[in-house]
Amino acid sequence: MMTEPDSKYIHGGVPKADMQRLDVAERRVLDFSVNLNFFGPPPIIKEKWSELFETIEQYPSVEGDGVAQYYQSVCGVPHRNFLAGNGSTELIYLAARVLGYKRAAIITPSFHDYERASLLAGAEVLRCPLFPHNDFAFPPKEQLMEMIKNVDALWIARPNNPTGNLFSKTLVLELADQFPEKWFIVDEAFVQFLDDWKERSLLTENPKNNVLVLNSLTKFYAVAGLRLGGMVGHESVISRMKHAKEPWAINGIADRVASLLSGCTDYDEKSRLAMNAEKERVFEALKDMDGILPFPPSANYILCQWRKTDNLDHLLAHLLTNGVYIRDCRNFPGLEKNYFRLGFRIPEENDRMLSLMASFEAPRSDPLQRAISSPPYTSEGVFLLNER
Ligand SMILES: Cc1ncc(COP(=O)(O)O)c(C=O)c1O
Repeated sequence: MMTEPDSKYIHGGVPKADMQRLDVAERRVLDFSVNLNFFGPPPIIKEKWSELFETIEQYPSVEGDGVAQYYQSVCGVPHRNFLAGNGSTELIYLAARVLGYKRAAIITPSFHDYERASLLAGAEVLRCPLFPHNDFAFPPKEQLMEMIKNVDALWIARPNNPTGNLFSKTLVLELADQFPEKWFIVDEAFVQFLDDWKERSLLTENPKNNVLVLNSLTKFYAVAGLRLGGMVGHESVISRMKHAKEPWAINGIADRVASLLSGCTDYDEKSRLAMNAEKERVFEALKDMDGILPFPPSANYILCQWRKTDNLDHLLAHLLTNGVYIRDCRNFPGLEKNYFRLGFRIPEENDRMLSLMASFEAPRSDPLQRAISSPPYTSEGVFLLNER
Protein backbone atom coordinates (compact mmCIF):
# COMPACT_ATOMS: atom_id res chain seq x y z
CA MET A 1 0.00 0.00 0.00
CA MET A 2 1.26 3.50 -0.83
CA THR A 3 1.79 5.60 2.27
CA GLU A 4 1.45 9.35 2.21
CA PRO A 5 4.85 11.09 2.18
CA ASP A 6 5.81 12.72 5.44
CA SER A 7 5.01 16.28 4.50
CA LYS A 8 5.96 18.17 7.63
CA TYR A 9 7.85 21.41 7.14
CA ILE A 10 11.52 21.20 8.08
CA HIS A 11 12.71 24.71 8.69
CA GLY A 12 14.57 26.22 11.58
CA GLY A 13 15.02 29.58 13.13
CA VAL A 14 12.40 29.80 15.88
CA PRO A 15 14.27 31.39 18.80
CA LYS A 16 11.27 31.17 21.15
CA ALA A 17 10.99 27.41 20.66
CA ASP A 18 14.69 26.91 21.37
CA MET A 19 14.54 29.11 24.45
CA GLN A 20 11.72 26.98 25.82
CA ARG A 21 13.49 23.76 24.90
CA LEU A 22 16.72 24.86 26.58
CA ASP A 23 15.11 26.50 29.64
CA VAL A 24 16.41 29.94 28.76
CA ALA A 25 14.14 32.82 29.91
CA GLU A 26 12.52 34.48 26.91
CA ARG A 27 14.40 37.53 25.62
CA ARG A 28 15.12 39.50 22.47
CA VAL A 29 17.92 38.02 20.40
CA LEU A 30 20.28 39.00 17.61
CA ASP A 31 19.21 36.46 15.05
CA PHE A 32 22.10 34.90 13.11
CA SER A 33 19.86 32.06 11.96
CA VAL A 34 18.45 34.22 9.17
CA ASN A 35 20.51 34.76 6.04
CA LEU A 36 19.15 38.00 4.61
CA ASN A 37 21.06 41.10 3.50
CA PHE A 38 22.21 42.68 6.78
CA PHE A 39 21.48 46.22 5.55
CA GLY A 40 17.76 45.43 5.62
CA PRO A 41 15.39 46.41 2.78
CA PRO A 42 16.48 49.19 0.38
CA PRO A 43 15.43 52.62 1.81
CA ILE A 44 13.23 53.38 -1.24
CA ILE A 45 10.64 50.88 0.03
CA LYS A 46 10.09 52.86 3.22
CA GLU A 47 10.14 56.15 1.33
CA LYS A 48 7.38 54.94 -0.99
CA TRP A 49 5.40 53.08 1.63
CA SER A 50 2.46 55.46 1.84
CA GLU A 51 2.19 55.56 -1.98
CA LEU A 52 2.24 51.76 -1.99
CA PHE A 53 -0.52 51.70 0.61
CA GLU A 54 -2.74 53.74 -1.70
CA THR A 55 -2.75 50.84 -4.16
CA ILE A 56 -4.01 48.06 -1.92
CA GLU A 57 -7.59 48.25 -3.15
CA GLN A 58 -6.47 47.35 -6.66
CA TYR A 59 -6.01 43.85 -7.98
CA PRO A 60 -2.38 43.26 -8.95
CA SER A 61 -1.30 42.16 -12.42
CA VAL A 62 -2.22 38.50 -12.98
CA GLU A 63 1.35 37.22 -13.38
CA GLY A 64 3.47 39.76 -11.51
CA ASP A 65 4.53 42.19 -14.24
CA GLY A 66 6.69 44.24 -11.87
CA VAL A 67 8.74 41.17 -11.01
CA ALA A 68 9.14 40.30 -14.69
CA GLN A 69 10.28 43.85 -15.31
CA TYR A 70 12.92 43.52 -12.58
CA TYR A 71 14.43 40.39 -14.16
CA GLN A 72 14.32 41.90 -17.62
CA SER A 73 16.09 45.07 -16.60
CA VAL A 74 18.64 43.50 -14.20
CA CYS A 75 19.38 40.16 -15.92
CA GLY A 76 18.09 40.75 -19.45
CA VAL A 77 15.50 37.95 -19.19
CA PRO A 78 12.76 38.29 -21.84
CA HIS A 79 9.19 38.07 -20.49
CA ARG A 80 8.54 34.87 -22.46
CA ASN A 81 11.30 33.12 -20.48
CA PHE A 82 10.09 34.28 -17.08
CA LEU A 83 7.53 33.41 -14.44
CA ALA A 84 7.15 35.31 -11.13
CA GLY A 85 6.50 33.52 -7.86
CA ASN A 86 5.29 34.28 -4.37
CA GLY A 87 8.85 33.69 -3.19
CA SER A 88 10.94 31.04 -4.91
CA THR A 89 9.39 28.45 -2.59
CA GLU A 90 6.16 28.61 -4.56
CA LEU A 91 8.12 27.90 -7.75
CA ILE A 92 9.95 24.93 -6.24
CA TYR A 93 6.58 23.25 -5.64
CA LEU A 94 5.22 24.34 -9.02
CA ALA A 95 8.25 22.92 -10.86
CA ALA A 96 7.97 19.56 -9.10
CA ARG A 97 4.23 19.37 -9.87
CA VAL A 98 4.36 20.46 -13.48
CA LEU A 99 7.48 18.67 -14.70
CA GLY A 100 6.02 15.37 -13.49
CA TYR A 101 9.34 13.57 -13.08
CA LYS A 102 9.22 10.15 -11.48
CA ARG A 103 12.57 10.16 -9.75
CA ALA A 104 14.73 13.05 -8.62
CA ALA A 105 18.29 13.22 -7.29
CA ILE A 106 18.84 15.80 -4.61
CA ILE A 107 22.22 16.92 -3.38
CA THR A 108 22.19 16.53 0.41
CA PRO A 109 22.45 18.46 2.69
CA SER A 110 20.52 21.21 1.00
CA PHE A 111 17.31 23.22 1.27
CA HIS A 112 14.65 20.78 2.41
CA ASP A 113 11.81 21.85 0.10
CA TYR A 114 13.23 20.21 -3.06
CA GLU A 115 12.67 16.89 -1.38
CA ARG A 116 9.30 17.77 0.11
CA ALA A 117 8.01 19.20 -3.18
CA SER A 118 9.19 16.12 -5.10
CA LEU A 119 7.58 13.72 -2.64
CA LEU A 120 4.31 15.65 -2.62
CA ALA A 121 4.32 15.54 -6.42
CA GLY A 122 4.53 11.75 -6.19
CA ALA A 123 8.19 11.34 -7.17
CA GLU A 124 10.82 9.18 -5.55
CA VAL A 125 13.87 10.95 -4.16
CA LEU A 126 17.48 9.82 -4.29
CA ARG A 127 19.74 11.70 -1.91
CA CYS A 128 23.25 12.37 -3.19
CA PRO A 129 25.25 12.90 0.00
CA LEU A 130 28.12 15.39 0.38
CA PHE A 131 30.76 14.88 3.07
CA PRO A 132 32.69 17.14 5.45
CA HIS A 133 36.15 15.59 4.78
CA ASN A 134 36.37 17.54 1.48
CA ASP A 135 34.36 20.60 2.59
CA PHE A 136 31.12 19.13 1.18
CA ALA A 137 32.51 19.23 -2.37
CA PHE A 138 30.12 18.14 -5.11
CA PRO A 139 30.81 14.72 -6.63
CA PRO A 140 33.04 14.62 -9.72
CA LYS A 141 31.43 14.70 -13.16
CA GLU A 142 31.66 10.94 -13.79
CA GLN A 143 29.89 10.16 -10.54
CA LEU A 144 27.19 12.72 -11.26
CA MET A 145 26.68 11.23 -14.71
CA GLU A 146 26.20 7.75 -13.25
CA MET A 147 23.63 9.13 -10.84
CA ILE A 148 21.78 11.16 -13.48
CA LYS A 149 21.31 8.03 -15.59
CA ASN A 150 19.06 6.67 -12.81
CA VAL A 151 16.80 9.68 -12.39
CA ASP A 152 14.64 12.08 -14.41
CA ALA A 153 15.61 15.27 -12.61
CA LEU A 154 18.50 16.73 -10.63
CA TRP A 155 18.02 19.51 -8.08
CA ILE A 156 21.01 21.74 -7.37
CA ALA A 157 21.29 24.82 -5.17
CA ARG A 158 24.05 27.19 -6.20
CA PRO A 159 25.30 28.40 -3.82
CA ASN A 160 24.20 25.43 -1.77
CA ASN A 161 22.42 26.14 1.49
CA PRO A 162 23.67 25.47 4.16
CA THR A 163 27.09 24.18 2.99
CA GLY A 164 27.89 27.41 1.12
CA ASN A 165 29.74 25.88 -1.84
CA LEU A 166 29.07 26.72 -5.47
CA PHE A 167 28.33 24.07 -8.08
CA SER A 168 30.17 24.87 -11.33
CA LYS A 169 28.07 26.74 -13.89
CA THR A 170 29.94 25.12 -16.79
CA LEU A 171 29.26 21.67 -15.36
CA VAL A 172 25.50 22.30 -15.14
CA LEU A 173 25.49 23.35 -18.80
CA GLU A 174 27.61 20.37 -19.89
CA LEU A 175 25.42 17.89 -18.03
CA ALA A 176 22.29 19.48 -19.44
CA ASP A 177 23.71 19.02 -22.96
CA GLN A 178 24.73 15.45 -22.27
CA PHE A 179 21.32 14.49 -20.85
CA PRO A 180 18.78 16.42 -22.93
CA GLU A 181 15.91 14.22 -21.68
CA LYS A 182 16.56 14.97 -17.98
CA TRP A 183 15.54 18.04 -16.00
CA PHE A 184 18.11 20.24 -14.26
CA ILE A 185 16.45 22.46 -11.67
CA VAL A 186 18.88 24.98 -10.30
CA ASP A 187 18.02 27.11 -7.30
CA GLU A 188 20.05 30.32 -7.27
CA ALA A 189 18.27 31.94 -4.31
CA PHE A 190 21.55 33.41 -2.97
CA VAL A 191 23.42 34.07 -6.20
CA GLN A 192 23.22 37.90 -5.96
CA PHE A 193 25.53 37.78 -2.95
CA LEU A 194 28.46 36.57 -5.09
CA ASP A 195 31.04 38.90 -6.60
CA ASP A 196 30.56 39.10 -10.37
CA TRP A 197 27.25 37.38 -9.85
CA LYS A 198 25.89 38.01 -13.31
CA GLU A 199 28.76 36.12 -14.91
CA ARG A 200 28.48 33.31 -12.40
CA SER A 201 24.70 32.97 -12.54
CA LEU A 202 22.64 30.87 -14.93
CA LEU A 203 19.93 33.56 -14.93
CA THR A 204 21.86 35.47 -17.58
CA GLU A 205 22.41 32.43 -19.86
CA ASN A 206 20.32 31.63 -22.91
CA PRO A 207 17.66 29.28 -21.49
CA LYS A 208 18.07 25.61 -22.42
CA ASN A 209 15.10 23.29 -23.00
CA ASN A 210 15.85 21.20 -19.92
CA VAL A 211 17.21 23.73 -17.39
CA LEU A 212 15.06 25.71 -14.99
CA VAL A 213 16.66 28.41 -12.88
CA LEU A 214 14.97 29.70 -9.74
CA ASN A 215 15.85 32.91 -7.99
CA SER A 216 14.69 34.79 -4.92
CA LEU A 217 14.51 38.51 -4.19
CA THR A 218 13.71 37.94 -0.53
CA LYS A 219 17.29 37.18 0.52
CA PHE A 220 19.32 39.86 -1.21
CA TYR A 221 16.78 42.65 -0.65
CA ALA A 222 15.78 41.45 2.83
CA VAL A 223 12.06 41.38 1.98
CA ALA A 224 11.25 37.84 3.12
CA GLY A 225 7.80 38.95 4.29
CA LEU A 226 6.85 40.29 0.85
CA ARG A 227 7.57 36.94 -0.89
CA LEU A 228 9.26 37.60 -4.23
CA GLY A 229 10.97 35.21 -6.60
CA GLY A 230 11.25 34.16 -10.22
CA MET A 231 11.79 31.25 -12.55
CA VAL A 232 13.77 31.44 -15.80
CA GLY A 233 13.55 28.79 -18.47
CA HIS A 234 12.86 27.95 -22.08
CA GLU A 235 9.65 29.45 -23.46
CA SER A 236 8.06 26.00 -23.85
CA VAL A 237 8.60 25.12 -20.17
CA ILE A 238 7.56 28.52 -18.89
CA SER A 239 4.30 28.32 -20.81
CA ARG A 240 3.59 24.90 -19.25
CA MET A 241 4.19 26.44 -15.83
CA LYS A 242 1.90 29.38 -16.61
CA HIS A 243 -0.91 27.03 -17.61
CA ALA A 244 -0.72 25.32 -14.23
CA LYS A 245 -0.36 28.39 -12.07
CA GLU A 246 -2.87 30.29 -9.94
CA PRO A 247 -3.48 33.92 -10.95
CA TRP A 248 -2.63 36.93 -8.74
CA ALA A 249 -0.09 35.06 -6.62
CA ILE A 250 2.14 38.15 -6.40
CA ASN A 251 0.46 40.73 -4.22
CA GLY A 252 0.26 44.26 -5.59
CA ILE A 253 2.64 45.83 -3.08
CA ALA A 254 5.30 43.17 -3.65
CA ASP A 255 4.91 43.56 -7.41
CA ARG A 256 5.42 47.32 -7.23
CA VAL A 257 8.35 46.91 -4.87
CA ALA A 258 9.99 44.51 -7.36
CA SER A 259 9.96 47.16 -10.05
CA LEU A 260 11.50 49.67 -7.60
CA LEU A 261 14.31 47.23 -6.81
CA SER A 262 15.72 47.36 -10.32
CA GLY A 263 16.79 50.95 -9.60
CA CYS A 264 18.71 50.08 -6.43
CA THR A 265 22.16 49.66 -8.02
CA ASP A 266 24.02 51.62 -5.30
CA TYR A 267 22.42 49.52 -2.59
CA ASP A 268 23.26 46.36 -4.56
CA GLU A 269 26.94 47.26 -4.85
CA LYS A 270 27.27 48.50 -1.29
CA SER A 271 25.65 45.31 0.01
CA ARG A 272 27.87 42.95 -1.97
CA LEU A 273 31.03 44.76 -0.92
CA ALA A 274 30.14 44.85 2.76
CA MET A 275 28.82 41.27 2.85
CA ASN A 276 31.89 39.90 1.15
CA ALA A 277 34.21 41.76 3.53
CA GLU A 278 32.35 40.30 6.53
CA LYS A 279 32.35 36.86 4.95
CA GLU A 280 36.17 36.83 4.78
CA ARG A 281 36.66 38.42 8.18
CA VAL A 282 34.26 36.15 10.09
CA PHE A 283 35.57 33.04 8.32
CA GLU A 284 39.16 33.89 9.34
CA ALA A 285 38.10 34.60 12.93
CA LEU A 286 36.20 31.31 13.18
CA LYS A 287 39.15 29.38 11.74
CA ASP A 288 41.29 30.64 14.60
CA MET A 289 38.77 29.59 17.21
CA ASP A 290 39.20 26.52 19.30
CA GLY A 291 36.42 23.93 18.97
CA ILE A 292 34.77 25.38 15.85
CA LEU A 293 35.28 24.07 12.34
CA PRO A 294 34.04 26.55 9.72
CA PHE A 295 33.52 25.55 6.06
CA PRO A 296 34.46 28.00 3.29
CA PRO A 297 31.48 30.29 2.55
CA SER A 298 30.54 31.75 -0.81
CA ALA A 299 27.36 33.66 0.03
CA ASN A 300 26.13 35.49 3.14
CA TYR A 301 26.17 32.54 5.54
CA ILE A 302 28.63 30.02 6.85
CA LEU A 303 28.30 26.41 7.95
CA CYS A 304 30.31 25.34 11.02
CA GLN A 305 30.70 22.28 13.20
CA TRP A 306 30.75 22.58 16.97
CA ARG A 307 33.51 20.42 18.45
CA LYS A 308 34.17 21.92 21.85
CA THR A 309 31.59 19.71 23.59
CA ASP A 310 29.59 16.75 22.37
CA ASN A 311 26.29 18.63 22.17
CA LEU A 312 25.53 21.77 20.16
CA ASP A 313 22.88 22.60 22.75
CA HIS A 314 25.67 23.74 25.07
CA LEU A 315 26.64 26.44 22.59
CA LEU A 316 23.00 27.28 21.74
CA ALA A 317 22.14 27.74 25.41
CA HIS A 318 25.24 29.88 26.07
CA LEU A 319 24.46 32.14 23.12
CA LEU A 320 20.74 32.39 23.82
CA THR A 321 21.42 33.32 27.43
CA ASN A 322 23.49 36.18 26.03
CA GLY A 323 20.90 37.22 23.45
CA VAL A 324 22.33 35.56 20.32
CA TYR A 325 20.61 32.94 18.17
CA ILE A 326 22.14 30.68 15.50
CA ARG A 327 20.68 28.08 13.12
CA ASP A 328 20.86 24.58 14.54
CA CYS A 329 21.50 22.44 11.43
CA ARG A 330 21.10 19.03 13.06
CA ASN A 331 17.78 18.49 11.27
CA PHE A 332 19.56 18.44 7.87
CA PRO A 333 20.39 14.88 6.80
CA GLY A 334 24.18 14.56 7.07
CA LEU A 335 24.58 17.43 9.56
CA GLU A 336 23.40 15.67 12.69
CA LYS A 337 26.81 15.92 14.35
CA ASN A 338 26.51 19.39 15.82
CA TYR A 339 26.52 21.54 12.70
CA PHE A 340 25.20 25.09 12.76
CA ARG A 341 24.89 27.99 10.34
CA LEU A 342 25.48 31.70 10.83
CA GLY A 343 24.11 34.42 8.57
CA PHE A 344 26.49 37.38 8.51
CA ARG A 345 25.28 40.60 10.13
CA ILE A 346 26.81 44.07 10.50
CA PRO A 347 30.43 44.09 11.77
CA GLU A 348 29.62 45.10 15.39
CA GLU A 349 27.02 42.33 15.67
CA ASN A 350 29.38 39.78 14.15
CA ASP A 351 32.01 40.85 16.69
CA ARG A 352 29.56 40.34 19.51
CA MET A 353 28.73 36.84 18.26
CA LEU A 354 32.43 35.99 17.83
CA SER A 355 33.36 37.15 21.30
CA LEU A 356 30.51 35.12 22.81
CA MET A 357 31.68 32.04 20.92
CA ALA A 358 35.20 32.62 22.24
CA SER A 359 34.00 33.06 25.83
CA PHE A 360 32.19 29.70 25.93
CA GLU A 361 33.20 27.51 28.84
CA ALA A 362 32.21 23.87 28.98
CA PRO A 363 29.78 23.17 31.85
CA ARG A 364 31.25 21.13 34.73
CA SER A 365 28.12 19.04 35.10
CA ASP A 366 25.84 18.74 32.13
CA PRO A 367 22.52 20.53 32.70
CA LEU A 368 21.28 19.31 29.30
CA GLN A 369 20.84 15.65 29.94
CA ARG A 370 17.80 15.11 27.76
CA ALA A 371 18.23 14.02 24.15
CA ILE A 372 16.65 17.18 22.85
CA SER A 373 17.54 17.65 19.24
CA SER A 374 14.90 16.46 16.85
CA PRO A 375 15.79 13.31 14.91
CA PRO A 376 16.84 13.75 11.27
CA TYR A 377 14.07 13.66 8.74
CA THR A 378 13.52 10.57 6.67
CA SER A 379 10.51 9.67 4.63
CA GLU A 380 8.76 7.11 2.55
CA GLY A 381 10.13 7.45 -0.96
CA VAL A 382 13.57 8.75 0.03
CA PHE A 383 16.69 6.67 -0.62
CA LEU A 384 20.34 7.31 0.04
CA LEU A 385 22.21 7.07 -3.21
CA ASN A 386 24.81 4.63 -1.96
CA GLU A 387 22.14 2.36 -0.47
CA ARG A 388 20.70 1.47 -3.83
C1 LIG B 1 18.28 27.64 -0.94
C2 LIG B 1 16.94 28.30 -0.77
N1 LIG B 1 16.11 28.37 -1.81
C3 LIG B 1 14.91 28.95 -1.71
C4 LIG B 1 14.48 29.50 -0.52
C5 LIG B 1 13.12 30.12 -0.47
O1 LIG B 1 13.20 31.50 -0.52
P1 LIG B 1 11.95 32.42 -0.85
O2 LIG B 1 10.74 31.55 -0.95
O3 LIG B 1 11.84 33.37 0.28
O4 LIG B 1 12.25 33.09 -2.15
C6 LIG B 1 15.30 29.44 0.61
C7 LIG B 1 14.83 29.99 1.88
O5 LIG B 1 15.45 29.88 2.90
C8 LIG B 1 16.57 28.83 0.48
O6 LIG B 1 17.39 28.75 1.51
